[in-house]
Amino acid sequence: MNPTFTLSLIAQSPVMQELLNQVDIAAGSDSSMLLVGETGVGKELFAEYIHKKSDRIQMPFVKVGLASLPAELLESELFGHEKGAYTGAGAEKKGLFELAEGGSIFLDDIDDFPIHLQSKLLRVLESRELMRVGGTASIPVNVRVICASKIDLKLLVDKNLFRSDLYYRINVVPVNIPPLRARREDIPLLVHHFLRRFITDRIVEVVPEAMHILESYDWPGNIRELRNVVQRMAIFANGSITPKSLPTEIHSAGTLESIMKACNRCLVEEKMTFDEVVNCLEMNLVKQALLKAEGNRSQAAKALNLSPSTFRDKLKKFNLED
Ligand SMILES: Nc1ncnc2c1ncn2[C@@H]1O[C@H](COP(=O)(O)OP(=O)(O)OP(=O)(O)O)[C@@H](O)[C@H]1O
Ligand SMILES: [Mg+2]
Repeated sequence: MNPTFTLSLIAQSPVMQELLNQVDIAAGSDSSMLLVGETGVGKELFAEYIHKKSDRIQMPFVKVGLASLPAELLESELFGHEKGAYTGAGAEKKGLFELAEGGSIFLDDIDDFPIHLQSKLLRVLESRELMRVGGTASIPVNVRVICASKIDLKLLVDKNLFRSDLYYRINVVPVNIPPLRARREDIPLLVHHFLRRFITDRIVEVVPEAMHILESYDWPGNIRELRNVVQRMAIFANGSITPKSLPTEIHSAGTLESIMKACNRCLVEEKMTFDEVVNCLEMNLVKQALLKAEGNRSQAAKALNLSPSTFRDKLKKFNLED
């Protein structure tokens, strides 16, 4: 049994609950996992979660940012080198795989892994032993590999930019972490979670209208963007967070351009029909007007320039009568 641990991973939405169930099972299996998702969705947090849920919890968790490591240093960083292996290699050096012995290695931005080194990585993963640069002896490797990518690696495989054998080796358990806009139920929880983290000396509430705007925003930078927005608001917040406290980029999300973008995405990506998209738009207008009017129907109808009876029909149509 693993010792218990705490890690603040907010995942209450049905889609995240289902994902977490699968990840929990796979975490204990020791297989390679590939985490795929847009920037800021929590790939690194998931990697730590997987490590801490595994039997390797007491052993090292080593993170490797492949996008920020120069290609010429990568081989010796990962696999180490012997003394005098190349100019400047004064002393022998253990690589990150050796430092992760018994634990997990997190290869972040694996899509940036140079093609000329991919065969060496594959050999290490398959043979479970490595050879340092300039070395002759094989060193046994017992490391669980967790990779992350912002793009679907299969696309790179199809373009011959990523070896397919390596792709299948690291993609034993694929984990697609959905963007925040696909799990909006988590937004209020995340907002409160970060508010509690950034404001410890007073209680600050978020008024419903402000929360509604936060829930409607598309969060292209996902949870990292939400965290930064809450952190910024926390500095100035006094008592309550109102729509006025929100940054302009979140406000302007309600502009026609962003509404059109959202509708287009529903049509193209979500494959909704034209009528479904129009209905969704209509329902959101009605809901928003009701929220703004704090539930007062005649005020909400007025705000939409609708007669009370037409407004009532809309409420009925969208099951919003209660
Ligand atoms: N489900 C979550 N619950 C709470 N905090 C989260 C959650 N997901 C992500 N975060 C937080 O959001 C921030 C971004 O997460 P993380 O760095 O793991 O994203 P990432 O997918 O690795 O991003 P990038 O692709 O840009 O490297 C971190 O501060 C992380 O702790
Ligand atoms: Mg990351």
